Amino acid sequence: MGITLSVIKADVGGYVGHSESHPDVIAKGDECLAKAKKEGLLVDYHVTKCGDDLQLIMTHQHGEGDEQIHRLAWDTFCAATEVAKKLKLHGAGQDLLADAFSGNIKGLGPGSAEMEFEEREAETIIIFMADKTSAGAWNMPLYKMFADPFNTIGLVIAENMHGGFAFEVLDVKESRKITFNAPDEIYDMLVFIGAPSRYVIRAVYHRDTGEIAAVSSTDKLALIAGRYVGKDDPVCIVRSQGQFPAVGEILEPFATPILVEGWMRGSHMGPLMPVSIPDSTPSRFDGPPRVVAVGFQLADGRLVGPRDMFADKAFNLARHDANLMANIMRHHGPFEPHRLPLDEMEYTTMPQVMKKVEGRFTDL
Ligand code: F6R
Ligand code: MG
Ligand code: MG
Repeated sequence: MGITLSVIKADVGGYVGHSESHPDVIAKGDECLAKAKKEGLLVDYHVTKCGDDLQLIMTHQHGEGDEQIHRLAWDTFCAATEVAKKLKLHGAGQDLLADAFSGNIKGLGPGSAEMEFEEREAETIIIFMADKTSAGAWNMPLYKMFADPFNTIGLVIAENMHGGFAFEVLDVKESRKITFNAPDEIYDMLVFIGAPSRYVIRAVYHRDTGEIAAVSSTDKLALIAGRYVGKDDPVCIVRSQGQFPAVGEILEPFATPILVEGWMRGSHMGPLMPVSIPDSTPSRFDGPPRVVAVGFQLADGRLVGPRDMFADKAFNLARHDANLMANIMRHHGPFEPHRLPLDEMEYTTMPQVMKKVEGRFTDL
């Protein structure tokens, strides 16, 4: 059965501050998608949250980039924004950058990741959602899942994976893309994806079959009006088992926390902490950045699940490590490498301050 999985998300208001989503906002999302399912537009759906982001997980048969599905997501975010406004939540409607829907949600503020595929006999899906970081955060985990034999033993010993995977990489600054084949070209690829603020993995394909394996949201990566207007708080869909990495191989990269861009005011480096959905409540210095993972089996498009994958106690040590890393980064206060380099901060007063003191600089 041909099915499309769409994950579309937006921050439509935070509770309290930017730390969490209000239950009434999530309930409104659920109400809107239940109606769409009843009317036959959706096969199934699941509404959840990661921190202050409302997450719409939808299955349907209309393909990627479909206007009706994108309109449904937009209208749902608008309805949820009304709830947020009534509660005077913080930044109500903050990710709805356009005044009206115009055919496709891309470029309007929300983030989206979509993939269309033929549902397998058993179709295992993991959906990652992150808060207080940007899409480049998936670079290292995706590399480990699909190209690193120290993470994914299947690349070495499973015949149906031994042919490797192809990575589609976006150059955010130049708005162009390139595909690298792993394992043949990993050294070339790492030159680029090791710089995740500029080069971002958008999709991964199984080389022998050409099947889609993973796709991430990359909607807000472009520099809008010459400056960042918001870290993406990205999502990523990964297919699992059989010719794709096993669930445990897909989750394993998050057992060793890495430093990512985001955190307070989108302007800091901090550890990406894997947590359960209820624990996606970034409160310490508006962080540290969080990642959640929900798992589903698909049954003719029906979402059987979710399983809250990082609720597993086996990730306790990763959380402990992430907290230690958060402390070490916080020791640096307003200094790099905790604070981001000047041109990557979401907030900056540099132009005003420079203007004020410019005349006091003298040549050496
Ligand atoms: C980071 C984030 C928060 C806000 C901060 C200031 O992605 O969302 O750290 O940047 O709380 O928020 P405002 O400017 O809305 O008061
Ligand atoms: Mg927010
Ligand atoms: Mg957010």
